[in-house]
Amino acid sequence: MTIREMQDEILRLKKEKDICILAHSYVAREIIEIADFTGDSFQLSVLAQNVSAKTVIMCGVRFMAETVKILSPEKTVILANPIAGCPMAEQMDKDVISLVKQQYPDYTVVAYINTTAALKTICDVCVTSSSAVKIVKKIENDKILFIPDCNLGDYVSKQVPEKTFKLLQGGCPIHARVGMREVNNARELHPNALMLVHPECVPEVVEKADFVGSTSAIMNYAKSSDAKEFIIGTEISIAEHLQYECPDKRFYSLSKDLICPNMKSTTLVDLYNAVNGTGGVEIDLDTETRLQAKKCIDAMIKLGE
Ligand code: 13P
Ligand code: SF4
Repeated sequence: MTIREMQDEILRLKKEKDICILAHSYVAREIIEIADFTGDSFQLSVLAQNVSAKTVIMCGVRFMAETVKILSPEKTVILANPIAGCPMAEQMDKDVISLVKQQYPDYTVVAYINTTAALKTICDVCVTSSSAVKIVKKIENDKILFIPDCNLGDYVSKQVPEKTFKLLQGGCPIHARVGMREVNNARELHPNALMLVHPECVPEVVEKADFVGSTSAIMNYAKSSDAKEFIIGTEISIAEHLQYECPDKRFYSLSKDLICPNMKSTTLVDLYNAVNGTGGVEIDLDTETRLQAKKCIDAMIKLGE
């Protein structure tokens, strides 16, 4: 089968079976082209509430599929590739965070959405990279325990200096890989380009950026800017997607190492198998975990309005 034939077959099957395909913007181009909705973590979680299809297939990583299940328990939610996890989401477990909470009893626990459903059950409010600053500002408490990404936490703490933050040593191993060597190389190679960076990158990289934002904020900025060249400091697929969407502009990845193997592990064949019923894994959460984790996500959606 060619890529085009497989895409056509997926489109036919999903219509026949009332399936909605959600895809995070970090997945491969051939999936993005046929997904019903694509976006960053926040957009996908908001969309998840309003999907009318009986079955949702997530092309992304496990915590994203869990978020859909938490918000839409009546739906069959399938993660297209069962091994697609997020190392950041799995860095901290419930027992460790319970102990940390005991040390900071008067702090509001803010969890990046890149956490497991189990961990969300003991947190107060979720945030995504696009909503974190707005939500943290709106939280009544001025003491924030931010988990697990200390880079995003550092970025948020600088935007909300009036609050006190406790950060832990966690984060995205892909974004954290990029340092000043890559920034200097890219600036030297592309002196006229604007550098757009995700706040999961380390603070010294973020400080050198012309713009800092979530995946969708970076894409929107690049699309609406009058500039013609951009260095993209997030997962490598974003430079590729932008290049298709804006062929008259030039996009360069900040580093060739900005590749998330988990996001890239979902292939068109995985999606095809998930749609035809021979692949993927169904997300199953026990009721207590689901309801408790939902409080944290609902708080995010409410404060994000
Ligand atoms: P956003 O989708 O919030 O930009 O986060 C990026 C990411 O690393 C998702 O896993
Ligand atoms: Fe997790 Fe980082 Fe990959 Fe996003 S890019 S899924 S945060 S490892």
